Amino acid sequence: MKKEYFTNTWLALREPYDFLSRNKNLKKLIKRSDCILDIGSGTGSFGRWCIENDIFFKTMMLLDHDQRLLNSSRISTAKFCKSKKLVIERISNKKFKVEDPVHNLTYGFETINRDLGLAIDLINNFDVLSMSALIDLLSIKYLSNIFNIINGNKVIAMTLCFNGKVSWNHKNTHDKYIINEFNKEQQSIKEGELALGYKSIEKVKQLSKKKNFKISIYDSSWKLLSNSHENKKFQMKYLETIYKPLKRNGQVDNEILEKWFSSKIQLIDNNSLETTVGHNDIIIQT
Ligand SMILES: C[S@@+](CC[C@H](N)C(=O)[O-])C[C@H]1O[C@@H](n2cnc3c(N)ncnc32)[C@H](O)[C@@H]1O
Repeated sequence: MKKEYFTNTWLALREPYDFLSRNKNLKKLIKRSDCILDIGSGTGSFGRWCIENDIFFKTMMLLDHDQRLLNSSRISTAKFCKSKKLVIERISNKKFKVEDPVHNLTYGFETINRDLGLAIDLINNFDVLSMSALIDLLSIKYLSNIFNIINGNKVIAMTLCFNGKVSWNHKNTHDKYIINEFNKEQQSIKEGELALGYKSIEKVKQLSKKKNFKISIYDSSWKLLSNSHENKKFQMKYLETIYKPLKRNGQVDNEILEKWFSSKIQLIDNNSLETTVGHNDIIIQT
């Protein structure tokens, strides 16, 4: 997967749906004094969700291999602050802070441009490790490494983990075939390692059990509707994330794919399609 695979536009479009879906139980586990390492942070959406939900923390390190997304983190956070009673201040190219006068709090943010493979040595410098919409891209080796290296008394928050289940209010005879092919496509070689796709959730369960870590799993599925221009646009974009890679994949029956995709688009145009994208939030206490 190329460094520039995820665009700022896509991450900004999905942010409101992510905000609605994440489970808020994390609030009980994150302390005001905590430092968080957000691996595969994108533009820092997870940090904004924490602030939105009064999940207080001291600092968040945004780690991503895509510098363009890290560069957008301050701008995206500034837009977010504008709509709240929050004040953002740039400290340097890589640092900014958000002041919350109501709670008398300061959230510190720092960015680091690094491949997640080179982030393992940082993990124990933080209280909380977060990974949002990421673990399906990871390999067995990477996940095992994290579980082997992490010390006790830490929290691992893996939110919005894709669980391989996508369903619709209007059934199509080809849904099963397409989702199977999509899940196969997700389990492909990424950066030299086999990405686990939705099977990453099972792997994380096994690793937690082996280490005797406490694990809690919650539903955080997206419910995508066709009842407004924004919802239709996003649902369409989401369906493209299934359609486009399968179109490039020589193994998939093109006629079925085209039929399937156009029937979905038609239903969106009719304001009637609802798509449920299966996600889970996994919270681990080490
Ligand atoms: C689906 S996006 C999620 C972004 C963000 N966590 C969110 O919830 O909006 C996955 C992110 O992981 C980053 N990523 C993927 N592979 C990576 C790698 N090998 N090293 C560092 N970051 C990576 C991508 O650049 C992208 O920002």
